[in-house]
Parts: sequence; C-alpha cells; structure tokens
Amino acid sequence: MPIAPNSAEARDIAYHIHGQTNLKAHEEQGPKIISKGDGVHVYDDDGKEFIEGLAGLWSVSLGFNEPRLVDAATRQLRDLPYYHTFAHKTAPPVIDLAEKLIGIAPEGLGKAVFQNSGSEAVDTAMKFIWYYHNAIGKPEKKKIIARENAYHGTGIASASLTGLARMHMAFDLPVTDRVLRTDCPHFFKYGDDGETEEAFATRCANNLEQLILDECPDTVAAFFAEPVMGAGGVIVPAATYFEKVQAVLKKYDILMVADEVICGFGRTGNMWGSQTFNIKPDLLTCAKALSSSYLPISAVLISDDLYTAVRDQSGELGGFSHGYTYSGHPVPAAVALETLKIYEERDIVGHVQRVGPIMQARLRDFSDHPLVGEVRGVGLLAGVEVMADGANRLSFDPAAKVGPKVQALCEENGLLIRAMGDTIGFCPPLIIDEATIEKMLAQFGKSLDQALDWTRQEGLV
Ligand SMILES: Cc1ncc(COP(=O)(O)O)c(C=O)c1O
Repeated sequence: MPIAPNSAEARDIAYHIHGQTNLKAHEEQGPKIISKGDGVHVYDDDGKEFIEGLAGLWSVSLGFNEPRLVDAATRQLRDLPYYHTFAHKTAPPVIDLAEKLIGIAPEGLGKAVFQNSGSEAVDTAMKFIWYYHNAIGKPEKKKIIARENAYHGTGIASASLTGLARMHMAFDLPVTDRVLRTDCPHFFKYGDDGETEEAFATRCANNLEQLILDECPDTVAAFFAEPVMGAGGVIVPAATYFEKVQAVLKKYDILMVADEVICGFGRTGNMWGSQTFNIKPDLLTCAKALSSSYLPISAVLISDDLYTAVRDQSGELGGFSHGYTYSGHPVPAAVALETLKIYEERDIVGHVQRVGPIMQARLRDFSDHPLVGEVRGVGLLAGVEVMADGANRLSFDPAAKVGPKVQALCEENGLLIRAMGDTIGFCPPLIIDEATIEKMLAQFGKSLDQALDWTRQEGLV
C-alpha cells in the first residue's frame, strides 16, 4: 500500500531511514571489499571499477589518490609523528591549520579547536555551549534544539541530537532531556496541500518559537542545524527557512550552531553551507572534507565572544578540562592544511559552481521518470526520492525496499551511491568533471529503469 504524505506512516518512514549495516545480512553476504582508488573511482578486490557517487561517506573531496596529501602526511610523520594539545603544547601544522581555517571561516568565528570526528566536534560544541552558559551566569540555559531527520553523529550526545529513530532505538537514546526536537524543513514532504514554500517556512519558525516559549526561553541554549540535511535524506531547507528561524533564535538569545560536517568546504557551491543559506553561526562544526578524509580530523569554529567568556571562566576554574589524546594531532593537521591549500590553488569552490548546476540539471531530467517523486539538492549534493506516485506524494511501503533495490542495481552498473530509505544520495568527489557526471547519471538512469521493471514485476506500481 502506498503511503500518503504527512500521514503518521510517512513521518515514521522519514524517522527510520539511515543506511546502517544490518549485522545479520552483513554476516550472510559478507562485505564488499574496496581495495584501490583513483580519482573519483574505486575498485573492488575483483578489479571492478565504480564511480564513487557518495565520495565514500560524503567526504573524499579530492578523490582517491591525491599525491600531495600522501606527501604531506609522509613529511609530517618524518618530522614529528605525534604531539598533543594539552597543557599549552601544540605542533606547527596545527597552528598553521587553525590560522588557515579562521582565514576562510564565516565572519566572527575567530577560534578553532580540533578533534578527530564529526561526532566529537558536535560533542565538543555541546559541552562548550554548556560551559559558556555557566561562565556567563546563566546556568539554567542548557537545552539544545535539533530537528527531526537531523544527523549529528553517533556519540552518546551527538546521537541524542540526531533525529533518526534507528540511531536511538535499542540504544536507550536520547540520553538527555536537554535535547528538544523541532520540525524538519522539507517542504515537499511536510508542506500542506495549497501551502506555499514560504508559508511552510513561517509555520516551521512559528512552531520553533512556540516550543521555545513552552520550554521557557531562559532554559534554551542553542539550535543545531545542518545547512542541507545529509544522512536524513539530503533535505534542502524550504525557501526563507533559515532567515525566519534565525530571527526567532535572536529574539530569545539562543545560539546558532551550523553543523557543516557535510556542507563545509565547497560542497554547496560556496566555501560554507552557511554562506549558501545566509546562516550566521555562533559555532560551526566541520570534518570530512577538511582533510579530504585521508586522515581523521574535525574542528569546531567558535565566535570570539563565546571564546572570551569561556577563557575567562577557565582562568578562574583553573582549566578547560576537555580534549582527546589525538586532538590536534600533527599528521592529520598537516594533511588538512595541504587540503585547504589545494582547494585554494585549484579554485575548488569555483569548480563546484561550474559543474554543480550541470549535475543538478541532469538529475532534474529524471523528474518525469515514473519512479521519481522529487529531485532536490544544491552544488554537488543531491537527493532523488523514489516514490510509488510522485505526483500525489505517495511513498512506497518501506518493507518493499525500493531505495535499496535502486542502490543494488547502481552497484551492479558500476556506481556507488547511498539509499537512505527511498532517497538516493549523490555527493561525488568535488573534483568530478562534466563527462564523469554524465557517465554517473547514465548509470543511474539505467538502474532506475531496471528498478521500474522490478517494481512492476513485484506489483508495487
Ligand atoms: C552533519 C553531520 N554531523 C556529524 C557527523 C558525524 O561525523 P562522524 O561520522 O565523523 O563522527 C556527520 C557524519 O556523517 C554528519 O553528516
């Protein structure tokens, strides 16, 4: 039975998507072993070539064999393979990276602190926010708002912010009652019949304001948002959404945190998703493309005002007791620094501005395909939602696993992408060229046609 938009079932599907490994199926079928990479391609252990349509995990921006990153790591390993950032210590590439990052950061973000993963960056941002409110004498201002379908990681705190049921069920999460949940700004899915996109955005902002009032504004500290929601299904915010939401946050003195773990470093056609959507963050988390994912590193960028308050408090308390053994590790920092230099030298943002619209336009050519409900995206980030009846926004029953079928057919046809439920995610390496985009989408088109035949054979349409 197809599932109607805005029904409880539709919300439930959205809440359940996340392409995690099913351990039983994993044992039965075994892993696909990827043993080599070259540019935007990877090769399995049988030598079969794939276009990496999701850049690994939305992350390998410079492709799979950039020699300069290998050299940067090797040089640093020879000079100093490890040092830490505790007790007033650090290493040269960490300082250079912080300076470089701050040089390209959105206005007002004047400090950088490093961790190893996006989840750790989100945890660090949450702790920083709590510490900050203690420092400024507002200890009751602690609640954090995140959205349905958000993805902020899998640590206990970051998974609690994540708004996907699979990340909570059976893990006893969310672990804290300090996390509040608000609307997902997906107009196509959650807009009412006859409602305009702008009116929908106003409704989301009004609901947010009501939530803040119900909870008492003096208890609400921050709002976390991915500029484009990634793992929740590549959801581009409704037009005017962020400007309306930020007006509400400002009114109640609530911090805006942009989680740019996917959107940062050119993915949306600007250096930051915050620029694409006119977001003015107080904190920003980034990872993945920071080092083209060659080595693990993430960062939290922090506004000067917040930093100053925390610095003064830590002076009084005698410490800011937070950090990891590998925070500010010099080898990933050297690789990240080289990555940022390459972005600049090769004008990666300009390249995304040139090829992103081609990928978006060619994907939108599939809008008339009988299996396609919505094509959405910006820059080199897109989602194609397969539906039983797109014109009437009717989803497939998730048990039919149509999205995973499309993913499997793509794989057979030499394309690795990710099905998040019935949304097929595209996020190729930022270095992809026009010819490879064409080839990738030809493989996708063939797979969609095969999936359509299959849905007909199975009686799903
Ligand atoms: C927006 C966002 N935040 C946080 C994370 C968590 O990052 P990590 O997997 O490095 O912990 C991710 C990962 O995909 C992400 O997309």
